[in-house]
Amino acid sequence: MLVAPSILSADFGRLESEVRAICEGGCDLVHVDVMDGHFVPNLTIGPVVVEAVANAATVPLDIHLMVENNTFFVDLFAPLKPGYISFHIEEEKHPHRLIQKIRAYGIKPAVALNPHTRPEAVEFLLEDLDMVLLMSVNPGFGGQKFIPSVIEKAQRLKEMILKRNPSCLIEVDGGVNDKNVGLLAEAGVDMVVAGSYVYKHPEGVETAIASLKVRNEK
Ligand code: DX5
Ligand code: ZN
Repeated sequence: MLVAPSILSADFGRLESEVRAICEGGCDLVHVDVMDGHFVPNLTIGPVVVEAVANAATVPLDIHLMVENNTFFVDLFAPLKPGYISFHIEEEKHPHRLIQKIRAYGIKPAVALNPHTRPEAVEFLLEDLDMVLLMSVNPGFGGQKFIPSVIEKAQRLKEMILKRNPSCLIEVDGGVNDKNVGLLAEAGVDMVVAGSYVYKHPEGVETAIASLKVRNEK
């Protein structure tokens, strides 16, 4: 299982050392939640702060856009050369065009699905995608409760992926911890995002990250 801790639960007063800690603790990517106050009822960080995160990180960034104007934000963050940019399918009229734009920047494109959105919504995009992000909470805040129906959704998505583009990864984001990561691995999930579980773990971020690195059987 690949692990992408979300810095949303980090102490922003000590952002540089919080990013260093997860990188030294063995994370695979650094998950960055970009919220615009429109698509979700919360505001987070822009390119000035994300550039500082990129400078502190020793692994690629995984930028999760939760915004209304995807194209504007892709252009804004692309110069930081993240590993992935994901945008929400619920907010995009021309997903193929945006996927091509992200790829033209040399960045891996990913599409995010809210908890209620059917996996079929991305079926005809899979051949062009490097990853699908399944939300397991309503986007907007860290520290929410895991919605278990994402497990069945991941299983259904995995079947579509095996048929259409086996190299496309499945990422699950929201309420992930050491209790549900095993079920996610069994369902075929490749990568988990974890914010509060990692940053608030009593034994520290390294122990938390290690506890999520379970074997993926599929
Ligand atoms: C929620 C964000 C998540 C969030 C996860 O909108 O997309 O990445 O930070 O936080 P936890 O792991 O605390 O649910
Ligand atoms: Zn996220």
